[in-house]
Amino acid sequence: MEALRSLLFVPGNRREMLQKALNLPADALVPDLEDSVPAGEKENARRVVQGLLPILAQGGRRVIPRVNALSTGLARDDLAAVIGHHTYGISIGKLESARDVRQVSVLIGEMEGRAGVPDGQTRLALWLENARAIVFAYELCSASPRVVAVALGAEDFTDDMDMERTDQGTEFLYARSVVAVAARAADVLALDTPYVNFRDPEGLERDTRLARNLGYKGKFAIHPSQIEPINRIFTPDAQEVEYARRVLKAWDEAEAQGRGSTSVDGKVIDVPMVKRARSLLALSEAIGRRESQGRG
Ligand code: COA
Ligand code: MG
Repeated sequence: MEALRSLLFVPGNRREMLQKALNLPADALVPDLEDSVPAGEKENARRVVQGLLPILAQGGRRVIPRVNALSTGLARDDLAAVIGHHTYGISIGKLESARDVRQVSVLIGEMEGRAGVPDGQTRLALWLENARAIVFAYELCSASPRVVAVALGAEDFTDDMDMERTDQGTEFLYARSVVAVAARAADVLALDTPYVNFRDPEGLERDTRLARNLGYKGKFAIHPSQIEPINRIFTPDAQEVEYARRVLKAWDEAEAQGRGSTSVDGKVIDVPMVKRARSLLALSEAIGRRESQGRG
Protein backbone atom coordinates (compact mmCIF):
# COMPACT_ATOMS: atom_id res chain seq x y z
CA MET A 1 0.00 0.00 0.00
CA GLU A 2 1.27 3.43 -1.00
CA ALA A 3 1.05 6.34 1.45
CA LEU A 4 0.44 9.56 -0.44
CA ARG A 5 -1.16 11.88 2.08
CA SER A 6 -0.02 15.31 0.98
CA LEU A 7 0.97 16.37 -2.53
CA LEU A 8 2.27 19.91 -2.86
CA PHE A 9 1.69 21.87 -6.04
CA VAL A 10 4.50 24.22 -6.95
CA PRO A 11 4.29 26.46 -10.03
CA GLY A 12 6.97 25.13 -12.39
CA ASN A 13 8.35 28.52 -13.31
CA ARG A 14 9.02 29.47 -9.65
CA ARG A 15 12.52 28.16 -9.01
CA GLU A 16 12.68 29.61 -5.50
CA MET A 17 9.43 27.91 -4.52
CA LEU A 18 10.61 24.59 -5.92
CA GLN A 19 13.77 24.91 -3.87
CA LYS A 20 11.79 25.81 -0.79
CA ALA A 21 9.67 22.70 -1.31
CA LEU A 22 12.73 20.50 -0.76
CA ASN A 23 12.53 21.15 2.95
CA LEU A 24 8.80 20.70 3.31
CA PRO A 25 7.26 17.46 4.65
CA ALA A 26 4.96 16.72 1.68
CA ASP A 27 4.78 13.04 0.68
CA ALA A 28 4.92 14.10 -2.96
CA LEU A 29 5.81 17.20 -4.96
CA VAL A 30 3.82 18.24 -7.99
CA PRO A 31 5.81 20.73 -10.05
CA ASP A 32 3.11 22.28 -12.18
CA LEU A 33 3.45 23.02 -15.89
CA GLU A 34 -0.29 23.54 -16.34
CA ASP A 35 -2.68 26.13 -14.95
CA SER A 36 -0.44 27.85 -12.39
CA VAL A 37 2.02 28.73 -15.16
CA PRO A 38 1.12 31.63 -17.47
CA ALA A 39 1.17 30.99 -21.23
CA GLY A 40 4.36 32.97 -21.80
CA GLU A 41 6.23 30.97 -19.14
CA LYS A 42 5.45 27.42 -20.33
CA GLU A 43 8.83 26.71 -21.89
CA ASN A 44 10.72 28.28 -19.05
CA ALA A 45 8.75 26.19 -16.53
CA ARG A 46 9.53 23.03 -18.47
CA ARG A 47 13.25 23.76 -18.40
CA VAL A 48 13.29 24.77 -14.73
CA VAL A 49 11.41 21.64 -13.64
CA GLN A 50 13.50 19.35 -15.84
CA GLY A 51 16.69 20.75 -14.34
CA LEU A 52 15.50 20.41 -10.74
CA LEU A 53 14.04 16.88 -10.96
CA PRO A 54 17.11 15.11 -9.52
CA ILE A 55 17.13 17.38 -6.45
CA LEU A 56 13.37 17.23 -5.99
CA ALA A 57 13.50 13.42 -5.97
CA GLN A 58 16.25 13.25 -3.36
CA GLY A 59 15.61 10.98 -0.41
CA GLY A 60 13.13 8.94 -2.44
CA ARG A 61 10.50 11.64 -2.49
CA ARG A 62 7.76 11.08 -5.05
CA VAL A 63 7.83 13.66 -7.83
CA ILE A 64 4.69 13.82 -9.96
CA PRO A 65 4.90 16.71 -12.43
CA ARG A 66 1.59 17.97 -13.80
CA VAL A 67 1.73 18.40 -17.57
CA ASN A 68 -0.58 20.36 -19.82
CA ALA A 69 -3.71 18.69 -21.20
CA LEU A 70 -3.65 16.77 -24.50
CA SER A 71 -5.79 19.44 -26.20
CA THR A 72 -3.21 22.19 -25.59
CA GLY A 73 -0.59 20.73 -27.92
CA LEU A 74 1.96 21.09 -25.11
CA ALA A 75 1.64 17.66 -23.50
CA ARG A 76 4.12 15.88 -25.74
CA ASP A 77 6.99 18.31 -25.11
CA ASP A 78 6.12 18.44 -21.42
CA LEU A 79 6.32 14.66 -21.17
CA ALA A 80 9.58 14.57 -23.12
CA ALA A 81 11.06 17.03 -20.62
CA VAL A 82 9.96 15.39 -17.36
CA ILE A 83 9.93 11.64 -17.94
CA GLY A 84 13.03 10.03 -16.53
CA HIS A 85 14.44 8.14 -13.57
CA HIS A 86 13.48 10.84 -11.06
CA THR A 87 9.84 11.06 -12.00
CA TYR A 88 7.54 8.78 -10.05
CA GLY A 89 4.51 9.63 -12.11
CA ILE A 90 2.71 12.13 -14.28
CA SER A 91 -0.31 14.12 -13.32
CA ILE A 92 -2.58 15.25 -16.13
CA GLY A 93 -5.99 16.84 -16.30
CA LYS A 94 -8.96 17.37 -18.58
CA LEU A 95 -9.21 13.77 -19.71
CA GLU A 96 -12.68 12.66 -20.72
CA SER A 97 -12.47 9.06 -21.83
CA ALA A 98 -10.56 5.82 -21.49
CA ARG A 99 -9.18 6.56 -24.96
CA ASP A 100 -7.60 9.80 -23.69
CA VAL A 101 -5.93 7.87 -20.87
CA ARG A 102 -4.59 5.25 -23.27
CA GLN A 103 -3.28 7.98 -25.56
CA VAL A 104 -1.37 9.57 -22.67
CA SER A 105 -0.06 6.17 -21.66
CA VAL A 106 1.27 5.51 -25.17
CA LEU A 107 3.00 8.91 -25.21
CA ILE A 108 4.55 8.18 -21.83
CA GLY A 109 5.77 4.81 -23.10
CA GLU A 110 7.46 6.50 -26.03
CA MET A 111 9.24 8.96 -23.72
CA GLU A 112 10.24 6.16 -21.35
CA GLY A 113 11.93 4.48 -24.29
CA ARG A 114 13.89 7.63 -25.09
CA ALA A 115 14.84 8.23 -21.46
CA GLY A 116 15.92 4.64 -20.84
CA VAL A 117 13.26 4.16 -18.19
CA PRO A 118 11.71 0.67 -17.97
CA ASP A 119 8.46 0.49 -19.92
CA GLY A 120 5.46 0.99 -17.66
CA GLN A 121 7.37 2.41 -14.70
CA THR A 122 5.89 5.92 -14.90
CA ARG A 123 2.60 6.11 -13.04
CA LEU A 124 -0.40 8.30 -13.76
CA ALA A 125 -2.44 10.48 -11.43
CA LEU A 126 -5.53 11.62 -13.31
CA TRP A 127 -7.58 14.75 -12.80
CA LEU A 128 -11.27 14.40 -13.53
CA GLU A 129 -12.41 17.94 -14.14
CA ASN A 130 -15.64 18.02 -16.05
CA ALA A 131 -19.04 16.37 -16.20
CA ARG A 132 -18.02 13.82 -18.85
CA ALA A 133 -15.03 12.70 -16.82
CA ILE A 134 -17.25 12.17 -13.78
CA VAL A 135 -19.73 10.12 -15.80
CA PHE A 136 -16.88 7.90 -17.06
CA ALA A 137 -14.85 7.96 -13.83
CA TYR A 138 -14.41 4.20 -13.43
CA GLU A 139 -13.53 3.70 -17.11
CA LEU A 140 -10.84 6.37 -16.86
CA CYS A 141 -9.41 4.96 -13.62
CA SER A 142 -9.16 1.47 -15.08
CA ALA A 143 -8.00 2.40 -18.59
CA SER A 144 -4.30 1.81 -17.94
CA PRO A 145 -2.22 -0.08 -15.36
CA ARG A 146 -0.19 3.12 -15.00
CA VAL A 147 -3.04 4.81 -13.15
CA VAL A 148 -2.35 4.79 -9.41
CA ALA A 149 -4.37 7.79 -8.30
CA VAL A 150 -7.26 10.01 -9.27
CA ALA A 151 -8.38 13.45 -8.19
CA LEU A 152 -11.39 15.65 -8.75
CA GLY A 153 -10.43 19.06 -10.13
CA ALA A 154 -13.11 21.02 -8.28
CA GLU A 155 -12.21 24.38 -9.75
CA ASP A 156 -12.55 23.27 -13.36
CA PHE A 157 -15.49 21.01 -12.54
CA THR A 158 -17.56 23.78 -10.97
CA ASP A 159 -16.62 25.95 -13.92
CA ASP A 160 -17.77 23.27 -16.40
CA MET A 161 -21.05 22.94 -14.48
CA ASP A 162 -21.43 26.70 -14.24
CA MET A 163 -21.71 26.47 -10.45
CA GLU A 164 -20.33 28.82 -7.87
CA ARG A 165 -17.59 27.16 -5.80
CA THR A 166 -18.00 27.55 -2.04
CA ASP A 167 -15.71 26.71 0.88
CA GLN A 168 -18.20 24.04 2.03
CA GLY A 169 -18.10 22.31 -1.34
CA THR A 170 -21.71 21.06 -1.15
CA GLU A 171 -22.07 21.85 -4.87
CA PHE A 172 -19.48 19.21 -5.85
CA LEU A 173 -20.23 16.62 -3.17
CA TYR A 174 -21.71 14.21 -5.71
CA ALA A 175 -18.67 14.39 -8.02
CA ARG A 176 -16.32 14.08 -5.07
CA SER A 177 -18.08 10.90 -3.97
CA VAL A 178 -18.13 9.48 -7.49
CA VAL A 179 -14.34 9.92 -7.73
CA ALA A 180 -13.78 8.20 -4.38
CA VAL A 181 -16.04 5.26 -5.29
CA ALA A 182 -14.56 4.90 -8.80
CA ALA A 183 -11.06 4.98 -7.33
CA ARG A 184 -11.93 2.23 -4.89
CA ALA A 185 -13.56 0.12 -7.61
CA ALA A 186 -10.45 0.45 -9.79
CA ASP A 187 -8.13 -0.06 -6.80
CA VAL A 188 -6.37 3.30 -7.12
CA LEU A 189 -5.92 6.07 -4.57
CA ALA A 190 -8.49 8.85 -4.33
CA LEU A 191 -6.70 12.18 -3.79
CA ASP A 192 -8.72 15.20 -2.82
CA THR A 193 -8.91 18.52 -4.65
CA PRO A 194 -6.97 21.44 -3.11
CA TYR A 195 -8.59 23.71 -0.56
CA VAL A 196 -7.92 27.00 -2.29
CA ASN A 197 -8.55 29.35 0.64
CA PHE A 198 -5.03 28.84 1.96
CA ARG A 199 -5.30 31.33 4.81
CA ASP A 200 -8.22 29.45 6.43
CA PRO A 201 -6.82 26.65 8.61
CA GLU A 202 -10.20 25.73 10.14
CA GLY A 203 -11.76 25.46 6.70
CA LEU A 204 -8.89 23.24 5.55
CA GLU A 205 -9.29 21.03 8.61
CA ARG A 206 -13.03 20.59 8.03
CA ASP A 207 -12.60 20.03 4.30
CA THR A 208 -9.83 17.45 4.78
CA ARG A 209 -11.79 15.50 7.41
CA LEU A 210 -14.77 15.40 5.08
CA ALA A 211 -12.55 14.06 2.30
CA ARG A 212 -11.16 11.34 4.54
CA ASN A 213 -14.70 10.35 5.51
CA LEU A 214 -15.65 10.12 1.85
CA GLY A 215 -12.84 7.64 1.23
CA TYR A 216 -9.98 9.87 0.11
CA LYS A 217 -6.45 8.81 1.06
CA GLY A 218 -4.67 12.09 0.54
CA LYS A 219 -5.07 15.66 -0.61
CA PHE A 220 -3.30 18.16 -2.81
CA ALA A 221 -1.87 21.25 -1.10
CA ILE A 222 -1.16 24.59 -2.71
CA HIS A 223 0.63 26.24 0.20
CA PRO A 224 3.28 24.98 2.67
CA SER A 225 1.00 25.65 5.66
CA GLN A 226 -1.48 23.05 4.38
CA ILE A 227 0.93 20.11 4.46
CA GLU A 228 1.06 19.41 8.19
CA PRO A 229 -2.73 19.36 8.76
CA ILE A 230 -3.22 17.15 5.69
CA ASN A 231 -0.55 14.68 6.82
CA ARG A 232 -2.02 14.59 10.31
CA ILE A 233 -5.60 14.01 9.20
CA PHE A 234 -4.65 11.23 6.78
CA THR A 235 -2.50 9.46 9.39
CA PRO A 236 -4.39 7.11 11.69
CA ASP A 237 -3.86 8.54 15.19
CA ALA A 238 -2.65 6.60 18.25
CA GLN A 239 -6.21 6.07 19.50
CA GLU A 240 -7.38 4.64 16.18
CA VAL A 241 -4.37 2.31 16.01
CA GLU A 242 -4.92 1.14 19.58
CA TYR A 243 -8.61 0.50 18.93
CA ALA A 244 -7.82 -1.44 15.73
CA ARG A 245 -5.36 -3.63 17.68
CA ARG A 246 -7.99 -4.35 20.33
CA VAL A 247 -10.53 -5.27 17.66
CA LEU A 248 -8.13 -7.77 16.11
CA LYS A 249 -7.19 -9.21 19.49
CA ALA A 250 -10.83 -9.66 20.51
CA TRP A 251 -11.57 -11.24 17.14
CA ASP A 252 -8.67 -13.69 17.39
CA GLU A 253 -9.74 -14.69 20.88
CA ALA A 254 -13.34 -15.17 19.77
CA GLU A 255 -12.22 -17.29 16.81
CA ALA A 256 -9.97 -19.42 19.03
CA GLN A 257 -13.04 -20.12 21.16
CA GLY A 258 -15.08 -21.02 18.11
CA ARG A 259 -17.28 -17.90 18.33
CA GLY A 260 -18.17 -15.92 15.20
CA SER A 261 -18.80 -12.58 16.85
CA THR A 262 -17.58 -10.63 19.83
CA SER A 263 -17.62 -7.09 21.19
CA VAL A 264 -15.27 -4.26 22.09
CA ASP A 265 -16.37 -1.29 24.23
CA GLY A 266 -19.98 -2.42 24.02
CA LYS A 267 -19.97 -2.55 20.21
CA VAL A 268 -20.44 -5.71 18.25
CA ILE A 269 -17.42 -6.73 16.15
CA ASP A 270 -17.88 -8.63 12.96
CA VAL A 271 -16.14 -9.17 9.64
CA PRO A 272 -16.33 -5.61 8.17
CA MET A 273 -14.94 -4.09 11.38
CA VAL A 274 -12.10 -6.60 11.36
CA LYS A 275 -11.29 -5.78 7.75
CA ARG A 276 -11.38 -2.08 8.58
CA ALA A 277 -9.03 -2.61 11.53
CA ARG A 278 -6.60 -4.56 9.34
CA SER A 279 -6.51 -1.94 6.62
CA LEU A 280 -6.06 0.87 9.15
CA LEU A 281 -3.04 -0.94 10.63
CA ALA A 282 -1.64 -1.62 7.14
CA LEU A 283 -1.96 2.08 6.32
CA SER A 284 -0.36 3.07 9.60
CA GLU A 285 2.57 0.76 8.85
CA ALA A 286 2.93 2.09 5.30
CA ILE A 287 3.11 5.63 6.68
CA GLY A 288 5.64 4.53 9.30
CA ARG A 289 7.83 3.03 6.56
CA ARG A 290 7.51 6.20 4.49
CA GLU A 291 8.53 8.40 7.41
CA SER A 292 11.47 6.22 8.44
CA GLN A 293 12.68 6.23 4.81
CA GLY A 294 13.50 9.90 5.45
CA ARG A 295 13.60 12.54 2.81
CA GLY A 296 17.28 13.35 2.65
N1 COA B 1 5.40 25.66 -2.85
C1 COA B 1 6.55 26.07 -2.29
N2 COA B 1 6.68 27.22 -1.61
C2 COA B 1 5.59 27.98 -1.51
C3 COA B 1 4.35 27.62 -2.09
C4 COA B 1 4.28 26.41 -2.78
N3 COA B 1 3.15 25.99 -3.36
N4 COA B 1 3.45 28.58 -1.81
C5 COA B 1 4.08 29.51 -1.09
N5 COA B 1 5.38 29.16 -0.91
C6 COA B 1 6.39 29.88 -0.17
C7 COA B 1 6.48 31.33 -0.58
O1 COA B 1 7.37 31.47 -1.66
C8 COA B 1 6.97 31.98 0.67
O2 COA B 1 8.37 31.73 0.76
P1 COA B 1 9.34 32.77 1.52
O3 COA B 1 8.83 32.85 2.92
O4 COA B 1 10.69 32.13 1.39
O5 COA B 1 9.20 34.05 0.76
C9 COA B 1 6.31 31.17 1.77
O6 COA B 1 6.00 29.90 1.18
C10 COA B 1 5.06 31.77 2.32
O7 COA B 1 4.18 32.05 1.25
P2 COA B 1 3.08 33.19 1.34
O8 COA B 1 3.74 34.53 1.33
O9 COA B 1 2.19 32.87 2.47
O10 COA B 1 2.26 32.98 0.03
P3 COA B 1 2.57 33.64 -1.40
O11 COA B 1 1.73 34.85 -1.53
O12 COA B 1 4.02 33.72 -1.65
O13 COA B 1 1.99 32.50 -2.38
C11 COA B 1 0.36 31.45 -3.72
C12 COA B 1 0.62 32.24 -2.45
C13 COA B 1 -1.09 30.99 -3.75
C14 COA B 1 0.66 32.31 -4.94
C15 COA B 1 1.29 30.21 -3.73
O14 COA B 1 1.03 29.50 -2.54
C16 COA B 1 1.19 29.31 -4.92
O15 COA B 1 1.63 29.66 -6.01
N6 COA B 1 0.66 28.09 -4.72
C17 COA B 1 0.58 27.08 -5.74
C18 COA B 1 -0.55 27.34 -6.70
C19 COA B 1 -0.68 26.22 -7.69
O16 COA B 1 0.24 25.49 -7.96
N7 COA B 1 -1.88 26.04 -8.25
C20 COA B 1 -2.13 25.00 -9.18
C21 COA B 1 -2.96 23.91 -8.62
S1 COA B 1 -4.57 24.41 -8.13
MG1 MG C 1 -7.61 22.02 -13.25
